[in-house]
Parts: sequence; C-alpha cells; structure tokens
Amino acid sequence: MDYNQAFDTALNRLHTEGRYRTFIDIERRKGAYPKALWRKPDGSEKEIVVWCGNDYLGMGQHPVVLQAMHEALDATGAGSGGTRNISGTTVYHKRLEAELADLHGKEAALVFSSAYIANDATLSTLPVLIPGLVIVSDKLNHASMIEGIRRSGTEKHIFKHNDLDDLRRILTGLKGRPILVAFESVYSMDGDFGRIKEICDIADEFGALKYIDEVHAVGMYGPRGGGVAERDNLMDRIDIINGTLGKAYGVFGGYIAASAKLCDAVRSYAPGFIFSTSLPPVVAAGAAASVRHLKGDVELREKHQTSAKILKMRLKGLGLPIIDHGSHIVPVHVGDPVHCKMISDMLLEHFGIYVQPINFPTVPRGTERLRFTPSPVHDSAMIDDLVKAMDVLWQHCALNRAEVVA
Ligand SMILES: Cc1ncc(COP(=O)(O)O)c(C=O)c1O
Repeated sequence: MDYNQAFDTALNRLHTEGRYRTFIDIERRKGAYPKALWRKPDGSEKEIVVWCGNDYLGMGQHPVVLQAMHEALDATGAGSGGTRNISGTTVYHKRLEAELADLHGKEAALVFSSAYIANDATLSTLPVLIPGLVIVSDKLNHASMIEGIRRSGTEKHIFKHNDLDDLRRILTGLKGRPILVAFESVYSMDGDFGRIKEICDIADEFGALKYIDEVHAVGMYGPRGGGVAERDNLMDRIDIINGTLGKAYGVFGGYIAASAKLCDAVRSYAPGFIFSTSLPPVVAAGAAASVRHLKGDVELREKHQTSAKILKMRLKGLGLPIIDHGSHIVPVHVGDPVHCKMISDMLLEHFGIYVQPINFPTVPRGTERLRFTPSPVHDSAMIDDLVKAMDVLWQHCALNRAEVVA
C-alpha cells in the first residue's frame, strides 16, 4: 500500500474544490490586539489587523487576566502535573469551577480542556448514565455536539434548525421516553440565536432535559456575561450549560454548569474528563479572573455590541450581502469558495486585513462567506479601513450587492 498516495488523493480533492485550508502564521502583540504581525511564507513580516478572531472582547490581553496568570505562574510553575483524579486538582481549578457555577446560577461546574471536549465528553456520557436516553439535536449544532452524540451510539433525532414544529413532531413520537434536547444559543456561522424559550417550553411538555451550548455567548450576553439564557432570564430552565473559556474570556478551556449530581456523575464516568491532564493552573487562574472581571464589566459588553452594529450598518450601506440576525457576528455572503479565498487573500496582502474564508464543511457549499468579528478593541479607523477595502474588492470581483438576509 502506498500510504502517501492516499494522503495525496485526499489533499488533491481539497485543492480541486478550492477548500484546502491554509493557516496564516500570525504573532499577536500584548496590548496591541487586534493588530498582529503576519509572518509570510517567505519569512517577511507585515502588520495586519485581525478581523476574524474569537477573542471577542480582547480579554486575551486584559491586564486583570495577565496579572492573574503571572501570579499563578510564579506561585505554581507550568503544568498541573496530573489528571484531575491523580494530583491535577488545584485550588485554581476549584476556584474556576466555583466562579462558573455562580455565573450560571447552577450548583456546580466542571472544567474540561476545551468546550469541544466538554460537549463531546458530556453528550457521549449522558446516555451511559441514563439508560434509554434519546438525544434530539438541532441540525446546525456544532461538530463537537454531533461527535459526542454519534460516539454515544444512542438513538438520536435531528430537528430542522430552530424549527419548533419539527421539534414537537419528533418529541411527540418519543413521548414517555427519557429525552435530551441539545441546541445552541448563538450559531456562530450565521450569527443567529437559538429559540431558547420556545425550545424549553416544548421540551418541558415532554419532560426532556435541555442542553445548551453558549460558547459564542458567554462573557458577551446577559447582565453578568452568563450568555443569552441569562439575558433572557432563562438560565434556570436549562439543565446543562456548555461554555468556552477560549473565546470571549480570552484564555483556554471549556466547561459545563449543571446540578451537583449531574456534574458529579459526568466527572465520575466521562473518559474525556477522567483520562486527561487537567488545565495548567496558570490557565485556570487567567480564566477565573476573566470570568470574574466580565461579571462586572457591562461597558465592555455594550462597546462590543456597538462595534458590531456600526460595522453592519457600514457594510449594509455599501449594499454588501451581510447576514444580520442581531448578534455580534458579521458574516458577509460570497457564495463561492474560490472568490471567497481570493477576497480573503487580497484583503490580507493588499490591505493588511485578516479574515479567514469560511468554506464547506464548516458551512454548506454555495454559502461560503467571510465572517467578521468586530470587538471593542477595533477602533473606528480600523472599521473605516475595512469598509473601504471591502468596497474596492467587491467592485474588483464584480460581486452581487443584494442583501441576503436582513
Ligand atoms: C458552538 C461551538 N461549540 C463548541 C466549540 C468548541 O469550543 P473550544 O474552542 O473551547 O473547544 C466551538 C468552537 O468554535 C463552537 O463554535
């Protein structure tokens, strides 16, 4: 068997379809984000502005976070040195979990190496804990939820995205059985909101557990950054809340918040939690500081929303096809992988603007897009530069200016 031939065939398929992923090598500079240095393949460097990061609030460079991390590093050293069970549970992990439980008004929280692992480990373990559990999942749920559900091997049903009639139809067919309904609060590629209240209402009629992924909402929505469920006063209606510490909180790691019993059971049964080295204490300390800080920094959240509104208004003013569901995410529809990559390349090379093209399988074919994530640290000059560059390139590529979704 020629193994390399197999890899070549797979990679050539991606090249042919125009969706081979190229990683852009960037170096963030503390205090200067969203400015960063782009190291080109030839070794030369160029200053760029990052427009596609998920450090949504710039917390990755916030002094409060950095100070907590410096202190923990000096106090404890680098890694935790163990799994949570074997010497890897520290005061930093316990503090972080207490901070997260408080954020979501739950009895407990459990920290994982990422929100991907938190979703995968929890959703693959719950059917082990609840015999006969059927999982009903939104069609657009993140890969980590899909993977956890798939690996559990349990019966699953997919409801059309945010479609309440479809959800009800499926739940009616499952009446009397143990059910978990899994969905997200902000779907990150379109930036639309899950219909949390309505989904909870229907799930409650059938006695189902409710599992929400708030990865693109924690830190950013709600009076204390508890997410959209907090904003809409619905946190107590959700049984399991999943979040990340790597996006708006600017650090790394993921978690679930739920009842003490549920967290204890997942802690005790989920291989993805048990058999993996715990977060470095320095990371746990930074994340806890970020969560704590954002519970009080309402102004930063407001600035974030304002920044997103301004960018959307400016791009709409040019007639660009932006997808606007009222969240902080600003996707511009291109609809073709080759054009999408070309615009992204030109933005980077000619304008020092970095936005990664989003292609299949992250989004369906034909809906390729540029996904902008304005933050409170993008200033008005940066917005001006971006809007001007998009205008020029849209013209250059003779792309459609009709609006896709308003
Ligand atoms: C909806 C959703 N859930 C979970 C994750 C995983 O989060 P993490 O980066 O912490 O693994 C992502 C990552 O992009 C996501 O978009």
